Amino acid sequence: MCGIIGFVGTEQAAPILLDGLERMEYRGYDSAGVAVRSDTEGLQVKKTKGRLKVLSDLIHGGRDLTGTLGIGHTRWATHGEPNDANAHPHVSEDGTIALVHNGIIENYQEIKDSLLQKGMKFTSDTDSEVVAQLLEFYYRENHNMLDAVSRVVHRIEGSYALGIICADYPDALIAARKDSPLILGYGRIGNFIASDVTAILKYTRDVSYMDDGEIAVITSTKVDVYNSELDPVEKQHHTVNWDVSAAEKGGYPHFMFKEMMEEPEAIRKTVSPRIRDGRVVLDNVSLTPEYIRGISRIFIIACGSSYHVSMVCKYNWERMLRIPVEAVLASEFRYSDPLVDDHSLVIVISQSGETLDTTAAMREAKRRGGRTLAIVNVVGSSIAREADDVLYTWAGPEIAVATTKAYSTQLALLDLVGLYLADALGTVSPEEYGAIVRGVEQLPAQMQQILDHTEDIKYFASRYFNHNSIFFIGRNLDYAIGMEGSLKLKEISYIHSEAYASGELKHGTISLIEPGTLVITLSTYAPLFDKAMNNVVEVKARGAEVLAVTTEEFRDKMGKVADATMVVPVAHCILQPSLTVLPLQLFAYYMALQRGCDIDKPRNLAKSVTVE
Ligand code: AGP
Repeated sequence: MCGIIGFVGTEQAAPILLDGLERMEYRGYDSAGVAVRSDTEGLQVKKTKGRLKVLSDLIHGGRDLTGTLGIGHTRWATHGEPNDANAHPHVSEDGTIALVHNGIIENYQEIKDSLLQKGMKFTSDTDSEVVAQLLEFYYRENHNMLDAVSRVVHRIEGSYALGIICADYPDALIAARKDSPLILGYGRIGNFIASDVTAILKYTRDVSYMDDGEIAVITSTKVDVYNSELDPVEKQHHTVNWDVSAAEKGGYPHFMFKEMMEEPEAIRKTVSPRIRDGRVVLDNVSLTPEYIRGISRIFIIACGSSYHVSMVCKYNWERMLRIPVEAVLASEFRYSDPLVDDHSLVIVISQSGETLDTTAAMREAKRRGGRTLAIVNVVGSSIAREADDVLYTWAGPEIAVATTKAYSTQLALLDLVGLYLADALGTVSPEEYGAIVRGVEQLPAQMQQILDHTEDIKYFASRYFNHNSIFFIGRNLDYAIGMEGSLKLKEISYIHSEAYASGELKHGTISLIEPGTLVITLSTYAPLFDKAMNNVVEVKARGAEVLAVTTEEFRDKMGKVADATMVVPVAHCILQPSLTVLPLQLFAYYMALQRGCDIDKPRNLAKSVTVE
């Protein structure tokens, strides 16, 4: 979704803003713009529809705009089509104030109508411009920007991260936040605001996370933060330990490819600190054995791929814990009047930690008395800070829109959490416990085996990339993985694809199978392998071309019925999804490559979905 950067310091702002925006490109956008202030030129604003390269060429890499104070924005359209006028920054009617916004102003129409009645004019269709005009309206009254911003945030409803500069303030950038991410960065050459730490990592690792309702005044030498009543707030500083190179391609053709290659290491970093002497240790998590024994129901809430992780968990955990486990889409959970109470453990999964629906669902669960444990990749993100407990996946920055390494680390970490809960409940035998722990420790080496032999997967992509509709079928854990395989394929190759529980085929979907239809059958879940074989025979009988994903154990049997087979190493049954998903991620990647798609930045998608 939209990316915001702001800088005030001792160097030219425009090149710094462009660089920061480029590092946030992965968030997804359709237009971009910057505003820079200088004593001689006043506010200079350049914005355009399209890629950042277009903006950068327009201002010659930033050299055309002089000034050491500025804001920049990449826009992901919500209100108003992607065009130059709707791009940010938005400038107030008299040209004094420029503003960038991420989020949605829900009452913008009502404010716009009242400003129109007062004679103000608008040049865009956006909700964001309304904030710029309202700000000017208040600012005209006493020429105090902090006061005007405070009045604006009391008036607007919805979500926002705002970056503001004013022609009358040569050395100040103003920021405000509610329900949209915004960080403050303290650097040697000046200070920053950004939606995302990757935008400013090159300049500083010293950051603070703005909280809802806060307003910050940032100058080249200091940062003052206030609450919504304008009382000063002391912010804690955090040091970001991500490596700058981790957010760069480092010679790989795409971030997605790099990130898949990093999966074994990401899993190692995520699980090793949590296994000591063969036991799962979850430091800093306050779930006592007494509390765990009192849990009556577990909800696992997430969106997209993170939701697919929760589906795997549901199958594994119910079997292991003998407690009802519900995997719920965050966007559905929040409006479903869920049966959460103080005996409910609510697991929240999010790579970004900023997904709005997931954040809102978590708040709803807390409000109803549930205890929340977040599984998050981005340190200091909103979900990480608001949950009762947080466990981080140590996948490092994930830049490609299609998640791969974060998904895999979520799976592995939740295997450990499940085991931890089962141990406290006494529902896992010591032998089983030991086998799962050893299995988790072996995952990185087994994943490496797959990554070292991608030729077959590449070949299958070259054979199938012209298909326009592809089915994924499987049962139980294989179904959950099929959902993820199908999503991966859809989001980056734009091929229509559906994932079905194999048993459901006969209830409707099988009518879509005709000669030549590609069906990817997942048959790695040992207890239901024979059933999987039956489904392959059924679709073959209707002319389908079958590409099977199975384990070494079933290679020969499956080889006799499927047209082609991809084989993965055998893991402990509950861990098998961690291996099965990898060839599907690679398959989606190579299919997209064959079709010439923009793999890291697929159309219409955003990495971090910060609006509803
Ligand atoms: C996955 O490839 C997607 N880009 C998307 O489904 C993602 O998993 C979803 O938006 C949830 O994001 P989160 O994990 O950051 O909350």
